[in-house]
Amino acid sequence: MGKDTVTIIDNSTGKSIEVPIKRGTHGPPLMDIGKLYQELGMFTYDPGFVATGSCESKITFIDGEKGILLYRGYPIDQLAEHSSFLEVCYLLLYGELPLDNELTNFEDMITHHTMLHEGLKDFYSGFRRDAHPMAVMVGVVGALSAFYHDSLDIRNPTHREISAHRLIAKLPTIAAWAYRFSRGEPFAYPKNSLSYSENFLHMMYSFPSEDYEINPSAAKALDLIFLLHADHEQNASTSTVRLAGSSQANPFAGISAGVGALWGPAHGGANEAVINMLSTIGDVSHIDKYVKKAKDSNDPFRLMGFGHRVYKNYDPRAAIIRKACYDVLEDMKVDDPLFDIALKLEEIALKDDYFISKKLYPNVDFYSGIIQRAIGIPTNMFTVVFTIGRCVGWISQWNEMTADPAMKIGRPRQLYVGHAKRDYVPIHHR
Ligand code: ACO
Repeated sequence: MGKDTVTIIDNSTGKSIEVPIKRGTHGPPLMDIGKLYQELGMFTYDPGFVATGSCESKITFIDGEKGILLYRGYPIDQLAEHSSFLEVCYLLLYGELPLDNELTNFEDMITHHTMLHEGLKDFYSGFRRDAHPMAVMVGVVGALSAFYHDSLDIRNPTHREISAHRLIAKLPTIAAWAYRFSRGEPFAYPKNSLSYSENFLHMMYSFPSEDYEINPSAAKALDLIFLLHADHEQNASTSTVRLAGSSQANPFAGISAGVGALWGPAHGGANEAVINMLSTIGDVSHIDKYVKKAKDSNDPFRLMGFGHRVYKNYDPRAAIIRKACYDVLEDMKVDDPLFDIALKLEEIALKDDYFISKKLYPNVDFYSGIIQRAIGIPTNMFTVVFTIGRCVGWISQWNEMTADPAMKIGRPRQLYVGHAKRDYVPIHHR
């Protein structure tokens, strides 16, 4: 076997360097080009990070060709079948599945951090009632750093752990209150007798004036949605959290940056965009027209919920959530015409050469909106539900980075293509 290096030659000067290859547990090897600038005076160019690793991580692995997703080594389908969201939170944060008492203590810890500082309540009245709930999420999550000064020392592992617990615990409360505020309804306080997902449903829908019965199918489906969204290695929002955190900003500030990045329709906002698209399509008889639009390179329309930067086979989360869709709709006796349109659209697109050749398959967002509709979650809250699930991934990745004494501020370089150096011209001479 040859050396574990790659030789990079600059043909314009004849200079060359050997760069070491880094190999992980799974996945393609990476060239370590850290010395490239020093030795060859060059940067690398890769907009969109199509072939660039930004960190080492032990948390999540994706094989996009084979449709594999592992959290700490465990396949997503096994976790979806046997585990729960809070057990997965423990796994992502601490690296191993919990023992019985560890899980009980963790659940207890999260349950006892779900209340918000009363002062945070006043923030809501500063928003317009018609604000998008993601706008409220960005604001209130960022504002946590103004309320929890006792856990902001990022070099202190205990502080990092408390911040992680607080974020996982408080996000459902922040999210449910964003919804209640938009409707002019009273905020419902968390109830410690309920599970994580039950509690979210309780805070979304209960009223002080009457009892609210939680539908167990809805709570189970929500738990699955949270679990499937819990982490996805270095996606746009996670990379945002890492980059913001690399400046040693506090975790609440970093996570609110991640919430902002998740909001976009090319990322977490896609679940909302899928339902809007299916509603616009309106009937299975109109599908062909929209598939044609999606294939037209002069038309900006895309099939929302289709395609993924990494998955070039099936998104394994989509396979799980597709099946859950059938179960939830049946359990909750919901007949949703949008589900029929979604199934037909998937069938037509998967047989179409355009989608086959570009390896465009349904992603997790294609179906998650349909389940959320069945539970009664309004469309503009879909990305908020994604945020609640993904928070543990963000905080685990942030913790992994911050715990590393070699952490460096993230600082990409650029190819400058603006004006060459020129002299200032006083205004009366321009
Ligand atoms: N509908 C139609 N054509 C598409 C779609 C789509 N949904 N997605 C990609 N394509 C086409 C592109 O036009 C492009 O065609 P070209 O090669 O002729 O130019 C080709 O497929 C490659 O697409 P890119 O946008 O270059 O791929 P990229 O990896 O940058 O984008 C993305 C991935 C953003 C997810 C894209 O597929 C997309 O916009 N999908 C719809 C939005 C969506 O569902 N996002 C959720 C992602 S999953 C998540 O965040 C949880």
